[in-house]
Amino acid sequence: MTTLEQHADRYAVVGNPIEHSRSPAIHALFAQQTGQTVDYTRLLAPLDGFANTVRHWVQAQGAKGCNVTVPFKFEALEMAAQCTPRATLAQAANTLGFPTADPTTWWADNTDGAGLVRDITVNANTRIQGARVLLGGAGGASAGVLGPLIEQCPASICVVNRTLAKAEELVMNHADWARQHGVQLSAQSLNELNNGPIDAPFDIIVNGTAASLSGSFLSLPAQCLRAGTLVVDMMYGPKAEPFLQWAQSLGAVPRDGLGMLVEQAAEAFFLWRGVRPDTAPVLQALRQTL
Ligand code: ATR
Repeated sequence: MTTLEQHADRYAVVGNPIEHSRSPAIHALFAQQTGQTVDYTRLLAPLDGFANTVRHWVQAQGAKGCNVTVPFKFEALEMAAQCTPRATLAQAANTLGFPTADPTTWWADNTDGAGLVRDITVNANTRIQGARVLLGGAGGASAGVLGPLIEQCPASICVVNRTLAKAEELVMNHADWARQHGVQLSAQSLNELNNGPIDAPFDIIVNGTAASLSGSFLSLPAQCLRAGTLVVDMMYGPKAEPFLQWAQSLGAVPRDGLGMLVEQAAEAFFLWRGVRPDTAPVLQALRQTL
């Protein structure tokens, strides 16, 4: 172990599987850029042993925090003594903080939505306020971003899912939040969207489904789009390409999930270190490795 590693505060991304994660590379670039001494690694947790793995790691190694990815974002929330309102609303956490080894000091937050919002509004320079938004999917990925999307006060958000009941549940959980922000929030089944009338095209479409993971495709009617609609896939790399190419062929502006990935990491880094990294050079460096 080098001297740097001995004195560095420890962090990790925890998931199963985890080898594919780009978070260590992103956080290494943030640390380098901000002059912070951070040792950020990958931690594989068994599917039935997330909480034990994290607890042992924190208490044996004095770790200060972790990011949490699939499939542990729901369990992560339960490990914390304090949860931020946005994590509570999402019912999932992607960032944990361990100020001390005492579990009563542990906190949970969810930076996914803030990451998506920042990628859309800053990196893609697109206003969410007043926009008509379609959110595809009603699983963990969509749950993580719906609250922060609502906070931007779009005119409406339609949550579209293969299984209508899941979209309805997500909408119900966010109904008060939407009312407080004057957002018209609705749920629709993918089937109904594909076979019924569409009032007007959407300004922003966010694909939060796992469709491309399984090699399939989120199928939306072409009337959902207009020239210039921003179409974001939370995935990145070759798996996101078919959906984004389809959107681009209809005149939409395609955007993969790499920007969101870097922005949610920057938000977590800020929560842990109190310093906000400049994400633009990190996103550029990461894109070159794809
Ligand atoms: P995650 O945590 O990544 O969101 P999840 O909770 O399993 O994963 O949710 C996956 C989401 O992708 C769900 O909304 C799922 O739709 P169902 O609720 O109907 O299962 C959606 N999904 C997965 N494969 C899909 C496909 N081929 N087409 C459309 N939606 C799909």
